[in-house]
Amino acid sequence: MTSTHSTAQVRVRGQARRTSVLPASEGTRPISAPRLIQHKKEAFWFYRFISIAYDQLLNPQQYTEAMREDALETADLNSRHLKVVDVGGGTGFTTVGIVKHVDPENVTLLDQSPHQLEKARKKEVLKGITIVEGDAEDLSFPTDTFDRYVSAGSIEYWPDPQRGIKEAYRVLRPGGVACVIGPVYPTFWLSQFFADMWMLFPKEEEYIEWFTKAGFEDVKLKRIGPKWYRGVRRFGLIIGCAVTGVKKDHGDSPLQLGPKAEDVSKPVNPITFLLRFLLGTLCAAYYVIVPIYMWMKDKIVPRGMPI
Ligand SMILES: C[S@@+](CC[C@H](N)C(=O)[O-])C[C@H]1O[C@@H](n2cnc3c(N)ncnc32)[C@H](O)[C@@H]1O
Repeated sequence: MTSTHSTAQVRVRGQARRTSVLPASEGTRPISAPRLIQHKKEAFWFYRFISIAYDQLLNPQQYTEAMREDALETADLNSRHLKVVDVGGGTGFTTVGIVKHVDPENVTLLDQSPHQLEKARKKEVLKGITIVEGDAEDLSFPTDTFDRYVSAGSIEYWPDPQRGIKEAYRVLRPGGVACVIGPVYPTFWLSQFFADMWMLFPKEEEYIEWFTKAGFEDVKLKRIGPKWYRGVRRFGLIIGCAVTGVKKDHGDSPLQLGPKAEDVSKPVNPITFLLRFLLGTLCAAYYVIVPIYMWMKDKIVPRGMPI
């Protein structure tokens, strides 16, 4: 798996297959990183509004078609007959990339937001795929079902990403590949502040750890990013890497987890919810400004010079 953008590639080979049990508390957020929208309920309402301008305005800033092709290369979509699931598939931007390689009737798009799915249903190119409303952390598919599991730009909203990756493992057939495309944590302090307030920006090592603990082998990470960033990663990237792993054996993941981090049936205090939602959304706006700033810098600073 090679790429012109690939400056980091991590392989975890020959890992012993063992069962590990993680406590549920592993998913809890430190006070310095409240990640106000990294909840199913907040993400639901966030996408209630974001879905209105998602395809036209917001997504193209962070995740271009070229980035999508670059990322999907790692999923090894080598046959039109592969059975593929796109989890957190939203309006179907990544699914459109998948159906270029795979027959639509073999593709399933799952998302928890009916508003995002509504947009996907309207796309002519996605006619024939199966669209399912559901939760990435609790997939409604039998064990050993798919040849490929793809999830792009969704992990950052999952209250317990390890649980979602364990589910990816479970629903794949032996020899199947999981490809999780997602954000990467910034190194610049102001970006760290807004990232931590908004949602989860995992570190590259965290992705590798989640995949490895879930039982995946041949775990690899490929860096991606908008071309006008010229490789700059200090501000963090909402789509910053594609991580892949191969499931070698039949059955469920060897990893055992405690109860879910978020119980969506539990009532929430509406004032706390509203404050968390508004503040989280406000912090997300920082990541609308950064790509515009980088785009302007790319136009102004001569080629070959650092930006
Ligand atoms: C940034 S969008 C990415 C959409 C799409 N994958 C793409 O490439 O444009 C994130 C999506 O994840 C979905 N999402 C968030 N949490 C989820 C969960 N727990 N289960 C399923 N989908 C989830 C949201 O509803 C939203 O549509």
